[in-house]
Amino acid sequence: MTKEIKRIGVMTSGGDSPGMNAAIRAVVRGCAYYEIDCIGIYRGYQGLIENDLEQLTARSVKNIINRGGTFLKSARSKEFITKEGRQKAYDNLKNAGIDSLIVIGGDGTFTGAILFNEEHNFPVVGIPGTIDNDINGTDYTIGYDTALNTVVDAIDKIRDTASSHDRLFLVEVMGRDAGDIAMNSGVGAGAEEILIPEEDEGVERMMRSLENSQKSGKTSSIIVVAEGEKSGKNIFELAEFIGEKMPGYDIRVSVLGHIQRGGKPSCFDRVLASRLGVGAVEALMRGESNVMIGITDKKVTSVDFEVAIKGQRPIDNELRRVLNITTV
Ligand code: F6P
Repeated sequence: MTKEIKRIGVMTSGGDSPGMNAAIRAVVRGCAYYEIDCIGIYRGYQGLIENDLEQLTARSVKNIINRGGTFLKSARSKEFITKEGRQKAYDNLKNAGIDSLIVIGGDGTFTGAILFNEEHNFPVVGIPGTIDNDINGTDYTIGYDTALNTVVDAIDKIRDTASSHDRLFLVEVMGRDAGDIAMNSGVGAGAEEILIPEEDEGVERMMRSLENSQKSGKTSSIIVVAEGEKSGKNIFELAEFIGEKMPGYDIRVSVLGHIQRGGKPSCFDRVLASRLGVGAVEALMRGESNVMIGITDKKVTSVDFEVAIKGQRPIDNELRRVLNITTV
C-alpha cells in the first residue's frame, strides 16, 4: 500500500441493484479496518452537488448486507453532466476534506467519473453495480445474479398458468442495450425463443421456432423479450403480429418491470459486493485511479474506466446454441 488516504467518499449512482448495500458496507468496513474516514454521499452525483453527505462508521452499515436497494439512495444527475455541476461537486468534496471517491453504478456512473477525473484530477475508483451485467472487464456486475433469479422465478410462475390454459406468453425483461438477463433467464427458464438487443434477426427466427413448436404439438410456450430488442415492435405489437400470423395461439403479455431491480441480494451478489468493496478501498490505497474493480476468472482485478464502458460486449453464441438444442 503506497498512498496515504485520509477520507473516502462513497456513493451509489444510476439504476439501483440488489447488493449495492453490501458493497457500501464493505467499503465502510474496509475504511474502518484501514483507519480511513468514510463519508456517505446520498443520491449519487446529485447529492454530491447538493452537499448531502454523512460520516459513516461500521455501526452505520449494520444489518444491511441482506437488504435490497441502496440506503444511500441513487439518482441519475442531469446537473453532473454540466461542467458547472461537476465544479460544485468538486468544491463540496474539497470542503468536506474528502481525498478519494468510490462510485458504485453502471456505465453512466463511470462516464461521469471519467469526466470528473479529467477535469479535477481527483482519484476515483468504480464498482460495477447494475442488474444489466453490461460492463466490460468484469464477469459479473452486482445485482445481476439476484435479478436473474427473480426473473426465472417469475417465469416459472407464468409457465404454470401458461400450461393450464395452453397459452403463449411473451415476457418482457429489462435490458435496454444488453441481452444478458434475457439470454440467461430464458435458457434457465426453458424459453422457446429469446429476443435481445445485440441481434437484429427481425421476427423471422421467432416465427420459425413458433411454427416448429406448433408442429411438434406444444400447446404452451414462453418467449423472453429484452426491452431493447431490435424488431422495431414493442412487446404488445409483437403479440398482435404473432396473433395475426398464427391465430391458433392464445397470447398474453407480461412485463416484469422494476421487480427485477428489488429484493434481497443473492449470496453470490453479497459475496461479490463484499470482495469488490474491499478491493476498491485497497485500489485507492495502492494509488490507483480512473479504474473499475471487477471480477475476472474468480479474481479481483482493476480495469480502466474507458475499457469498462467501451461498446457492446459480444453475444454469447454458445448460449444461443444451447437454447436451440434444448428447444427442439
Ligand atoms: O440500467 C438498469 C436498468 O434497470 C435497465 O435495465 C432499464 O432499462 C433501466 O435501468 C430502467 O431505468 P429506470 O429505473 O430509470 O426506469
